[in-house]
Amino acid sequence: MPDIIDPDIRKAHTLPSDFYTSEERLRESRSRFSEYWHFAAHRSQFGESTAIPLPHMEGILGEPMLLTSEDEIRCLSNVCTHRGMIIAEQKCSAKTLQCPYHGRTFGLDGCFRTMPEFEDVQDFPSQSDNLQRFPTLEWNGIIFCGTRPLDFSGCLEELERRLGWIPISSFEHDESRFRDYEIQANWALYVDNYLEGFHIPFVHKELHGVLDYDNYRTEIFEGGVLQVGIASDDEPSFNLPETSPDFGENVAAYYYWIFPGLMLNFYPWGLSVNLVVPISPNRTRIFYHGFVGDHSMLGKGAGADLDKVEEEDQEIVEATQRGVSSSIYYRGRYSPERERGVHHFHRILSSRREIDNLL
Ligand code: FES
Ligand SMILES: [Fe+2]
Repeated sequence: MPDIIDPDIRKAHTLPSDFYTSEERLRESRSRFSEYWHFAAHRSQFGESTAIPLPHMEGILGEPMLLTSEDEIRCLSNVCTHRGMIIAEQKCSAKTLQCPYHGRTFGLDGCFRTMPEFEDVQDFPSQSDNLQRFPTLEWNGIIFCGTRPLDFSGCLEELERRLGWIPISSFEHDESRFRDYEIQANWALYVDNYLEGFHIPFVHKELHGVLDYDNYRTEIFEGGVLQVGIASDDEPSFNLPETSPDFGENVAAYYYWIFPGLMLNFYPWGLSVNLVVPISPNRTRIFYHGFVGDHSMLGKGAGADLDKVEEEDQEIVEATQRGVSSSIYYRGRYSPERERGVHHFHRILSSRREIDNLL
């Protein structure tokens, strides 16, 4: 069975439209998400809190999760072991987690502590009354978690090689930059759109003015894509150290995408994170978090007005959803120069034998 997406971009056709419209395709894609690491939070999101619920993980993996910070950071199930109530819907700063339904308590390590009216219950408490723990790892203050994640070292090496010099762990969470959007489009269309700068001159006139479009470039690596935005003359850029592979260039932004839906956008002011969460074939939720490293650079350059860029992208993506739902449209072709990131994503998304077998 040939690949759905030819490895040679010059010969390849884009994803068949049912990837964007069918329940079954969405279910297949989602079933793979448990093999990946996902952004949980940046350390600075804790502030004074000891526990943070992760609503986006519930959307991505179908698993309500909670991050706790005590002697170490842990990712725990946010589901009470009594009758399954969600334990925390909001951040909290207590030393003990208490289920709001019937008052069961747990330590921040997930261990069962107390339960009212359970004196006569036999063989209680047992191991299964503790909250289950999920794998976590941390890179530069960014905490990742997952349910059964596979090796992530390739991605982390790529991030470290490129951005290891940025003091990301000391960035501060800026609550005012948080956004939670719901769009009427498939999650993969949102990712497609993110993975090319091809549309910048057409869709983002202001952004186009601050980026050097001819030198915009896309690099692919295992499990992800990096786009490097080069600043136009006199526009703000990173002050790169000699150790950076891009030393000598005027980099305005690093746009990292990691499969399936994590976008790490680094600007001279700090980091903007987009989390793409599928809801249904034609509905997607996007969470935005902002982490500031240099306040003096806010409002400048490629990362100046993210709300406007987002609005422009959403309008395009929602209209494209209507287009790919048409009975006339099946699939298209790629620009070898400008759509390598989209091609790479489509290769990852369609790479399963189970999917091949369905065709
Ligand atoms: S469901 Fe949590 S105490 Fe009952
Ligand atoms: Fe865009």
